[in-house]
Amino acid sequence: MTEETHPLAQSLNQELDANGSALLRMLSEKGKKAYFPSRGILGQSAEAKDSAINATIGTAFEEDGSPLCLECLEDLVKIPSTAYLYTPSYGLPGLRETWREMIVCKNPSLAGKCFSMPVVTNALTHGLSVASYLFVDPGDRIILPDLFWDNYELLFEAAYGGTLTTFPMFDNGHFNVAGLDRLLQSPGERKLVVLNFPNNPTGYTATEDDAIAIRAALLKAAESGKRVVTILDDAYFGLVYEPEVSRESLFTDLADLHPNLLAVKLDGPTKEDYVWGFRVGFITFGAKGANAAQYKALEAKSAGIVRGSISNVSSIGQHLLQKAYRQTEYADQKKAKYEILRRRYTRIKEILAGHPEYSASFEPMPFNSGYFMCVKPKGADPEAVRKLLLAKHNTGVIVLSGLIRLAFSSVPLEKLDTLFSNLHNAIRELQKA
Ligand SMILES: Cc1ncc(COP(=O)(O)O)c(C=O)c1O
Repeated sequence: MTEETHPLAQSLNQELDANGSALLRMLSEKGKKAYFPSRGILGQSAEAKDSAINATIGTAFEEDGSPLCLECLEDLVKIPSTAYLYTPSYGLPGLRETWREMIVCKNPSLAGKCFSMPVVTNALTHGLSVASYLFVDPGDRIILPDLFWDNYELLFEAAYGGTLTTFPMFDNGHFNVAGLDRLLQSPGERKLVVLNFPNNPTGYTATEDDAIAIRAALLKAAESGKRVVTILDDAYFGLVYEPEVSRESLFTDLADLHPNLLAVKLDGPTKEDYVWGFRVGFITFGAKGANAAQYKALEAKSAGIVRGSISNVSSIGQHLLQKAYRQTEYADQKKAKYEILRRRYTRIKEILAGHPEYSASFEPMPFNSGYFMCVKPKGADPEAVRKLLLAKHNTGVIVLSGLIRLAFSSVPLEKLDTLFSNLHNAIRELQKA
C-alpha cells in the first residue's frame, strides 16, 4: 500500500486483512486502491432520498415526480418507468438477491455455504475485467489451459499487463490436471488461475473425476502456503450434456476449500438465458473463513470499479431479467432451449460415430457441453481449410489455436450433416492438393 491509497480503500483493506486473512494479500496493487465512493455524490444522494425536495441526483423527473421518459420509447418496451433510472453501481438489489438464490438452486451443494452477494457487471467480459483490476498486476502470470477464449489476451494481457501461462488442456482425452498442478507448484507465493467450463472453444467441461482432481491440485497449492485466486468463467453454465460431467460449478467446491484460496465466479444470463445483447453479468466471491464484512469489502471494491468504469449497468436489461426470473414459464422455456442445443450435440455424436471415414480428415477434440466443439484437421492447414470452406462450400467456421471451432449453437439440426461432410471434403481436397 502507498500513501495515495484513499482512506475508504484503507478501511476496506483493513477489513480484508483482519483475523489473519490472506484476502488483502491476494489483491493487485490497483485492487488494493479500489474502493466504493460511499461518501461522494452517491452517499449524499442516499442521505437525501426521503427529503421533500431532493435536488441531489442527475436523473430527471416529471412534474408529478414520476421518471421523465420519452413516450416513443415507452411504447417499445413495456417496463415500469423506474427502469429508465440508474441502478446502483452494485446492481439492482432484487436481481442480485434473485441471482444469488438461483446460484444456490443450480448448485445445491452450495446450500449453507458462505459466499458474497453477486455484484452486477456489464456481462461477463466486464466481470473478467473487474476481476483483473482486483487481482492482476503487470507481470503477473495467469495460469490457464492452452485452449481459451481469445478475448483473455486483450483482458488479462493487453489491458492489465499479465502474462497468460498455459498448460496443454488435454491429456489422453481428459482435462490435464497434472499440467495445472505443475504450474501451481512453480515458484511464486501468489497464483492466479482461470478455469472456464463449459469451455470456449472446445465445449469441454470437467467431469466429476476431473473436478475432484482439480480441487485437490488447488488445495495442495493453498495448503503449501500459496495464495491462490481462482477465477471461474462460468459463461456457459448449465449447458452440459453427458451424465459423467459435473452439473455444478467448481465454485461449490472452492468457495470454502481453504483460507488461502479465493474463488471468483463470473457468470450471467448472456449465454445461459440467451440474452447476449443485454449486457448483464455477475461477480461473486467465496473463500473459506471469509466473514460477512470481508465479503462486503470485496463487493464494495467491485462496485467501486464498476462506478469508475461504466458507472452502472444497463437498467433495462436488469429489470427485464428480474421480471423474467419471476415468470412461471421461465424454467420450462429455458429447458426447451437447452433441449435444442442438446439435440444438436447428440446429432454431432451420431454423425461422428456414423462416419468412420471422417477420421482420415480430422480428429474431434473432447467435448461434452456448451455451444462449441473443435476438430484438429489432419494433413491440412486449418486456415486453408477455413478459406476453402468459405470459398467453395459456403460454410463459415472459426480457426483458433490450430483448431477449427464449430459453433453448433448457431447451426440448425438439419444442416449438421452437411457441415461435417463439407468439412471432410474440404480437408480431403487440401490433402490431395
Ligand atoms: C468463455 C467466455 N467467457 C465470457 C464471454 C463473454 O460473455 P459476455 O457476452 O457476457 O461478456 C464469452 C463470450 O463469447 C465466452 O466465450
